[in-house]
Amino acid sequence: MSITRFIASFAVRLSQKFQKLFTRDAAESLWEHACRWTHPVSSRRILATIDKAELVRLREQYPYRPNARKINAYEDANYWVSVNVKRLQDLWLDRSPPLDILDLGCGPGYFLYLCRLFGHEGLGLDPDDEPFFRGTTKFFGVSRVVARINAQAPLPDLGKQFDLVTAHRVCFHRIGRRENGEWLEWTEADWKFFINDVRTRFLKPDGRLLLEFNRRADGSSFFTPELRAFFESQGARIVRWKALLAVDPAERPRFKTGSGGP
Ligand SMILES: C[S@@+](CC[C@H](N)C(=O)[O-])C[C@H]1O[C@@H](n2cnc3c(N)ncnc32)[C@H](O)[C@@H]1O
Repeated sequence: MSITRFIASFAVRLSQKFQKLFTRDAAESLWEHACRWTHPVSSRRILATIDKAELVRLREQYPYRPNARKINAYEDANYWVSVNVKRLQDLWLDRSPPLDILDLGCGPGYFLYLCRLFGHEGLGLDPDDEPFFRGTTKFFGVSRVVARINAQAPLPDLGKQFDLVTAHRVCFHRIGRRENGEWLEWTEADWKFFINDVRTRFLKPDGRLLLEFNRRADGSSFFTPELRAFFESQGARIVRWKALLAVDPAERPRFKTGSGGP
């Protein structure tokens, strides 16, 4: 095959792959919107429970570090409540019976605050690198354990098991930067260790682990074909940038939980 034909066929295959990804993402996004629409949650009513002036005051007390990205403007309650309402809806936490929830890398504590409003019991885990989170978790009344998640190291003993372990906008798998600025990430063996640790020590028999990832710097999904295959081999149900895992790797867990509560 000539080099021109090789490049042309490679470009076609690449474009087909992108098209497939786009349609898959678009279809899953549509499905998520439709599901949320069937059980609306009022951000307005949640926001009414939050003293926004106090969040602004906390930000003044703990200003941004130099070079901090403003995407993490966690004092913007309007934005972060709307993000976390979707997280809650996607896991059907607005209508499931009360659950014990552990949120890894809980950050400012919005997710667990909202969980509590819907009757759930939450515990956060975060390394306390960010003084602002110390202030906001206290402000939201969110209990948290100060700890750091490291590759191939068990999580600290928390003395209980959970119905749901979550990690949103996961960062703990990033262990440094390459010279070209790309993140150096956990290997599959590191993920296997972590998933097994959560499954065997922190999940109740019907428990689930939810991992939600940021997009990569170029806008592509965290789930490269290799990572998608790996997480699926661990039993994950992958929807958009989220992977949901049950205790038993042979079980494909569901996002929707049994109805109950309000
Ligand atoms: C992008 S923020 C996400 C915060 C929150 N989960 C959310 O989505 O709003 C990442 C969080 O992970 C925490 N984090 C970073 N490295 C960590 C590690 N090695 N172990 C545990 N948490 C970590 C940070 O402190 C921060 O709270």
